[in-house]
Amino acid sequence: MSPTNPRILPHGEAAIAEAAALIAAGQCVAVPTETVYGLAADATDSVAVAGIYAAKGRPSFNPLIVHVRDLAAAERIATFDPAARDLATRFWPGPLTLVLPLRADAGIASLVTAGLSTIAIRVPAHRAMQALLAATGKPLAAPSANASGAISPTRAAHVAASLAGRIPLVIDDGATPAGLESTIVMDGHILRPGPLTAAELGLPEAAATTDAITAPGQLASHYAPAKPLRLNAVERNGDEWLIGFGDVAGDDNLSPSGDCVEAAARLFDALHRADSAPPPAIAVAPVPHPGIGAAINDRLRRAAHPH
Ligand code: TXA
Ligand code: MG
Repeated sequence: MSPTNPRILPHGEAAIAEAAALIAAGQCVAVPTETVYGLAADATDSVAVAGIYAAKGRPSFNPLIVHVRDLAAAERIATFDPAARDLATRFWPGPLTLVLPLRADAGIASLVTAGLSTIAIRVPAHRAMQALLAATGKPLAAPSANASGAISPTRAAHVAASLAGRIPLVIDDGATPAGLESTIVMDGHILRPGPLTAAELGLPEAAATTDAITAPGQLASHYAPAKPLRLNAVERNGDEWLIGFGDVAGDDNLSPSGDCVEAAARLFDALHRADSAPPPAIAVAPVPHPGIGAAINDRLRRAAHPH
């Protein structure tokens, strides 16, 4: 990717067509929503989703929010109880994310949910994100479009500065109206405060924590295998299921060619397969640390020491 990337195109038919073509080709594109600019990729394509983490340089895999056109599309991905459907009916499209049980037949890449059985989903109100959803016909996973550790972008120029050389395209539709990430609700509780307040939603105030923005969502956000997991294994010890990488073949292999983006895309599927295989323990081959490898190793450490 050239150092002059990303290109910034004003919102319109041409920009949406180009963005949709890039997403169909497995790339990620920055697009405004009513909250902040998001970095969107096809949520059904695990390598494309791994590309989001690679572009952000995120050192860990948090589950991502999936964006869909309307409630009907959301109901094909998640299971709604009456309370969730009521919130969706009243506040979608808008800056409300619901964490709901993931449907088994949803077709969402497991890296999106970080292996969890729940999914965070929302119907955005912004015309550019809505146009992109319509043009791609895909659910789009999108975290905020900034490099890891940087603040969330509310203008195309913020995105371009933060992700220079890492993404091909930003759709520019001016400043985002809310400027703050969506309110996240799970089981009638606010996990992350946002533009829609507790009073507006008719829910209790979010529980106070030292890091109210991310901590509650993250506490609930770690899939851990039920079996013991050993790291940096170059061969099997006794009765282990070995998840390989590169030259360490294993029962399964995150990436025979040693590609960390491919390994990230396969990680949670591989952990689930290991958990349901007959051997009582899991071993994982060493994965290099640079780039997205840092996130893979973070996740593996958490899986090895879940508490
Ligand atoms: O406004 C927004 O929500 C923006 C725009 C782009 O839509 N997106 C955004 O996504 O803020 P992201 O990936 O930065 O935030 C996702 C949050 C994280 O705090 C994560 O822990 C939480 O959602 N989350 C996602 N799935 C979850 C799940 N299954 N259970 C609990 N928390 C979850
Ligand atoms: Mg963010």
